[in-house]
Amino acid sequence: MTNDPEIRNKELIDQLASVTADFCKPGILKEKAASPLLYSDIKTILHAVADKASVISPTLRLMKNHGVQLDLAQILIQNPPSHTERLEDWYYKIFKDDNICIIIGQLAGYFSDIVSRIKGIHPTLSNTVQDPFLTLQPSLLMGDYDFTPFGIHEDGYGVSVIHFHLGPCSKYMTFWSRDLLSELTGSSERFYASNPRHQRSYSSLIPLGETWCIEPGDVFYIPEDMPHIGHATGFSASFMIILERLTKSDWYGKALAQLLEHLENQQPLPNWLTDASKQFQQSVQNNSGIVPSHHPAKPPKTRE
Ligand SMILES: [Fe+2]
Repeated sequence: MTNDPEIRNKELIDQLASVTADFCKPGILKEKAASPLLYSDIKTILHAVADKASVISPTLRLMKNHGVQLDLAQILIQNPPSHTERLEDWYYKIFKDDNICIIIGQLAGYFSDIVSRIKGIHPTLSNTVQDPFLTLQPSLLMGDYDFTPFGIHEDGYGVSVIHFHLGPCSKYMTFWSRDLLSELTGSSERFYASNPRHQRSYSSLIPLGETWCIEPGDVFYIPEDMPHIGHATGFSASFMIILERLTKSDWYGKALAQLLEHLENQQPLPNWLTDASKQFQQSVQNNSGIVPSHHPAKPPKTRE
């Protein structure tokens, strides 16, 4: 295997495309061990979080029972792991048996090496060139959280996730189509939490979905528009690259703003529509590294 992260990442993306029908459905690469972030990097990140983050930092969320808990973020900030203890021992030492999910976003702010390590994940992105139509967000998710604290959820319109599972425990991911989930739960909400207000528990819904076992070293892809829930079987950590593309509603919003500006200034619209259309086509094309042009684009019903 090459040591050049850019080449390695490109190979990985090609392989992932082949098992996900060009990023349109969930898929897994088994034991590829190609994660740009290593389990051993996590302590460094936690120390940077302790130095730089506050309990209200949007890049740090500790969740329990579907809610963000600022007091737990404070505990983490005040008690980063020592250099000698194992990460999982540190977790249980400070959080006991609580099912906590730690989410650290915008990792580059805490671990700058990650920028060069994810090079090649998307062809138009490099250290210096940013793609205006696609954002890559390296993030870390870890804990012994039982079920994902978001409940059954979609990651957001235009959002898909490449997931590198670092272990040490395996975890499970279950998917349903949106239609099937609506039929089973009687709810068309984008988020479905298993609580007394709802008729169906996760345990009754999971056998009716499609469940994948994700082991340490696996690379897993979660497409947009597919409700899912993770289930941890013990402490584990995952490095995620969240891919957020420009959505139709984003583009329409920008186009409308430009149109209004032109009308307000009584400017003619030479080529404006053509340019705008080209921009949109470029957006679709740029997404083709991740979301190919034949991907069915639907207008969003809601947007968080
Ligand atoms: Fe998710």
